[in-house]
Amino acid sequence: MVVKIAVLASGRGSNLQTIINSIENGYVKNAEINVVISNKRDAYALERGRNHGISTVFLDPSRCDNAKYDLKILVVLKQYEIDLLLLAGYFQLLGPEIIEAYRNRILNIHPSLLPSFKGLHAQKQAFEYGVKITGCTIHFVDEGLDSGPIILQSCVPVLQGDTEETLTARILEQEHIIYPEAVKLFVEGKLKIEGRTVGFG
Ligand code: GRF
Repeated sequence: MVVKIAVLASGRGSNLQTIINSIENGYVKNAEINVVISNKRDAYALERGRNHGISTVFLDPSRCDNAKYDLKILVVLKQYEIDLLLLAGYFQLLGPEIIEAYRNRILNIHPSLLPSFKGLHAQKQAFEYGVKITGCTIHFVDEGLDSGPIILQSCVPVLQGDTEETLTARILEQEHIIYPEAVKLFVEGKLKIEGRTVGFG
């Protein structure tokens, strides 16, 4: 069986690109990205999708409230018979309807070691806090903010002389490694959720 994937992205889509690559080069088997959806008309993620022959959809958030917007997303997910929804730099909270409909089938990437530094500008938050180690997290999405069960994490040390930008770039390198890995584990049916803990079956 092929797992049908939709990616929600608001920006440049470098994580989307690594997932596309990991499917195209056979690292992730039995999966296909059927649609890239964005809330930003000019998101480069949409172009990346088009470059690989993937359908892209811009859904204009300015024309409706959050609940109606989520219903629009759901319509697209149903239309493409999506099994797995990936958030890859999607800067808007998903509402309960989608989370319920896709319970344990929505993954997100967050650029910190959760539960530290939730929300926006996580790299900046970590840098300004003065932590010595930060990183990135792939987690299931639940109703809370960056709060669902954790699938994979990767540590990134904060080095002397780092700026927010250099730190962000090194975290991104790790994001590009663990997101395809998490997708592979999901597609292979290896993720077992027990409470907050995700085991690998
Ligand atoms: C990444 O840092 C991701 O962790 C965060 O938003 C950024 C998206 O980058 N959620 P890209 O659009 O995948 O390049």
